[in-house]
Amino acid sequence: MSKARTTFFCQHCGAQSPKWIGRCPSCGEWNTYVEEVVQKADERSTWKSVAVGQQQKLKMSKPLLLDEIAIRDEHRIKIPDKELHRVLGGGLVPGSLVLMGGEPGIGKSTLLLQLALQLKNQRVLYVSGEESEQQIKLRANRVGVKNEQLLILTETSLENIFSQIQSAQPALVIVDSVQTVFTNRIESSPGSVSQIRECAAELLRFAKESAVPVFLIGHITKDGMLAGPKVLEHMVDTVLQFEGDRHHVYRILRATKNRFGSTAELGIYEMQGAGLREVSNPSEVLISQRDESLSGTSIAATMEGIRPLLIEVQALVSSAVYGTPQRSSTGFDLRRLSMLLAVLEKRCGFKLGMKDVFLNIAGGIKVEDPAIDLAVICAVLSSNEDIAINPKICLSAEVGLSGEIRPVTRAEQRIGEAEKLGFSQIVISKYNTKGLDKTRFKNIEVKPVSRVEEVFTLLFG
Ligand code: TYD
Ligand code: MG
Repeated sequence: MSKARTTFFCQHCGAQSPKWIGRCPSCGEWNTYVEEVVQKADERSTWKSVAVGQQQKLKMSKPLLLDEIAIRDEHRIKIPDKELHRVLGGGLVPGSLVLMGGEPGIGKSTLLLQLALQLKNQRVLYVSGEESEQQIKLRANRVGVKNEQLLILTETSLENIFSQIQSAQPALVIVDSVQTVFTNRIESSPGSVSQIRECAAELLRFAKESAVPVFLIGHITKDGMLAGPKVLEHMVDTVLQFEGDRHHVYRILRATKNRFGSTAELGIYEMQGAGLREVSNPSEVLISQRDESLSGTSIAATMEGIRPLLIEVQALVSSAVYGTPQRSSTGFDLRRLSMLLAVLEKRCGFKLGMKDVFLNIAGGIKVEDPAIDLAVICAVLSSNEDIAINPKICLSAEVGLSGEIRPVTRAEQRIGEAEKLGFSQIVISKYNTKGLDKTRFKNIEVKPVSRVEEVFTLLFG
């Protein structure tokens, strides 16, 4: 018997090397090389050897003049789930390979099973290597949508999956998860870099040749990377990220890569007892319904992708009990918080150096839009001074290091959303008012400011 051939693979980027090395020369990561057994039993592709039409020769492509290439009317599969439909860029492109990543328990399986159940007039094959048929049936009962056409297959061998696809001829294939499938052609264990890469490559070949779209579910590691090699992300057409706090009900679906649409789109869901529900007006749910005004909260008009989103920022400032004051933040970058506190200290003379500062973005949402800066500063001050901010005011501006109020993108859309939700004033940067048609907004007053101090006089008198 011939000796098994082994190679070392970088678990971060998928580069290979015949011997172990400490630092990956291709991605620069340390200690990422792992030995894996690789042995190609058969040079033929798995999908090809299963397909009936395997006798046909591989088509050879010829170079074409750009002018000669006819644009085919791109037909997209309509998805009943409006949020997913939009995030994919307006439907699912035939033959596309979509990778969905997310932490365990976030709802990836639920979302895709729901999609499979909703696609009533198409035959969908849901392949699960993680759960039993019983578990999937129970989940489907929970979701409560009936679909007689849906096929469930619990299988992890790629060869068997392909032969089932061959006989069932589905219009859509969902694989849950790519880490559990394995091909016989490679001897390393399921979930290893070479297995994941090989299986994904086969599924890609299948999707392209049969025009059947394939969804792959992928796990992510502790530090938020998609487990498996980075090459997986290069290979697929679309990478979707499903995120949120497991202890909160809201989930965000965003595209981090999309060959067929924009990556600016975003979908919001709410995890309920009966599956995931689309949230079509997120601002309404993210702002807590309160009658009396409380100190330490402010409302920011942010953008998530190309959708305006109003979110509540909560801050608590108290005297530090122990020597070193604590700074803690959920949903907002801690370093940015420290920077904003430094601006408050240096430019406005507020002594926060000996205070604990806790910051929280309501709803368990992570915000990266810099337009939330002003709301963060105001929430901190409101808590520090114990003066509530008028709940009819919202804020939208970036704060610079010298305390200047900087403009944000798509100001009109933000103002429009704030007006729709019944706010009476919005504070924005002076530079955002250039070319702004204020007459468009009848029920909301736009307050332009240029320095942090002006905002404080405006809010706290
Ligand atoms: P799941 O889809 O299994 O997550 P993933 O595939 O990303 O690991 O979702 C699991 C969580 O969702 C679990 O903690 C229970 C919860 N859940 C509900 O709250 N309601 C439901 O209807 C379903 C199906 C799951
Ligand atoms: Mg799952």
